[in-house]
Formats: sequence, structure tokens, C-alpha cells
Amino acid sequence: MRENPDYNDLYYQNTTSHSQIIDIIAEHTVPLSEVAAPIDWEVFFGNTHPVEIEIGFGKGRFLLEASERHPKVNYIGIERAQKYVELTRERFEKYIRHFGVDRASGTFSNVRLAWTDANYFLTRYVPAASVQAYHIYFPDPWPKKRQQKRRIFRNQDFLEALTRTLNSDDGRLYIVTDYKEYFWEIQERLSDLPLLRPVDAEFRPDQDIATNFEMKYVLEGRSIYRAVYEKVLSCFDRV
Ligand SMILES: C[S@@+](CC[C@H](N)C(=O)[O-])C[C@H]1O[C@@H](n2cnc3c(N)ncnc32)[C@H](O)[C@@H]1O
Repeated sequence: MRENPDYNDLYYQNTTSHSQIIDIIAEHTVPLSEVAAPIDWEVFFGNTHPVEIEIGFGKGRFLLEASERHPKVNYIGIERAQKYVELTRERFEKYIRHFGVDRASGTFSNVRLAWTDANYFLTRYVPAASVQAYHIYFPDPWPKKRQQKRRIFRNQDFLEALTRTLNSDDGRLYIVTDYKEYFWEIQERLSDLPLLRPVDAEFRPDQDIATNFEMKYVLEGRSIYRAVYEKVLSCFDRV
């Protein structure tokens, strides 16, 4: 039986009526409803650079560091909590002021914040085989038994959208969590997806960029679990 809890039309109406895409550097915000779906990344970013998506960026530490480090990669950060979208926008603004970043220099012109639900965004807005990497760091574990159905990796539509939208052959999915039991569950669920295969978790180019949760948990001495998956070619891609 498919497990798609909480992802019904009413949920989407409530959580996505405010959905926006924020271009921090251009100081421009567009309601998601005005963005044509699926998004043509080349038109959207004005270049053909690869697209990477961070789901649940929280306070935006990874997004800021990675987008500055890789100006030739386009980043979309998705976050559904308004509080964190605001905090992240402020984090970028402070950085721009503090380091005197010239808005015309191109720095951060490769990043957009999507204030919306990740499942909604992936299933409707992201074209097939168009994402070079997904970063999902410390996904909410929903530890209480009755809430575990809310785990994002239990959502079949989400899993299908992840697989469909990753680039064939070399698209990657990076996962980090401190929650061992959820980590095993994620791996079990992903092992059901024939187009994703696990690769060495050390193969994570930006592993020195810690998210806010990672910094906090490392200080607390908690164990951190990492996995990396790669999309393989389907038989249709091979012909
Ligand atoms: C535990 S926090 C981790 C934040 C950040 N990745 C870090 O490591 O510091 C999980 C984040 O995912 C966001 N989130 C959870 N489900 C989401 C969804 N379906 N769409 C977008 N964001 C989501 C939450 O609002 C929260 O900010």
C-alpha cells in the first residue's frame, strides 16, 4: 500500500498558498504560482550550469557556503518553514554587507530560496533528469511512533520524484542524519529503488561544510551517519 500521509490537496493548499521563489542578490521575490511548471533551468538561471537542490535548508549554512564556493553550480534551497527562510535570507544579507559583496559581481546570483514544500516543488516544478545533486541534511526524524508517517522518505511520490529528476548516470543524492534508526530505514527504502545505488559515503565533495544541525550535534558528541547514492542508467537511457 502506498504511504502518502499528510500530502493531500488541502495540505498543499495550506502550505503552498504563500510559496515563493526568492532571489536574494537581485532582491526579487516571485510567487511560485507565477512560475511556469516544469521550470526550464536554463531560462530560470540564465545559464546551463548544473543544478543542485538542498531540501530543508534550515538556517542556510550549507547553501551559503556551497553557493559561494561553486559559482558555476546553480543552487535551489527548499524550505517550508517561514522562520528558517527569513533567517537564511538574513544570513545571506549579513554576509553580503559584512564582506562587502558587490551585488553585480555574480556572487550568489547562482542561488534561489524556494519557500515551499519539497514534495510539492519536486513533483510539479522539477523536470525529469535535470538535477545534478540533492542534499538532504538532517531530515526531520519524527521520533514519536504515531508521527513517523510524516517522514519524508516514507512518501512514495517524493521518492519517485527524487529518482525521476536526478540526472541519469551521474546524479547524486547526499544524506546526513544523526538518527540511526531513521538512517537504516532510509537505506532500506532506497534499496527498493532500482535506479539508485549506494556509493562510498566519503565521496561527498563538500563534506567540510557542516550544516547548523551537524555543528550542534558534533559538539554534543553524537554519531553522524552519511550516505551517498548515485542514479544509474535505466534500460531506456541505454538504447
Ligand atoms: C532538522 S532540520 C535540518 C536543517 C538543516 N538541513 C541542518 O542540517 O541544519 C529539517 C528542516 O527541514 C525542513 N523540512 C522538513 N520537511 C520539509 C519539506 N517537506 N519541505 C521543505 N522543507 C522541509 C524543516 O522545516 C527544517 O528546517
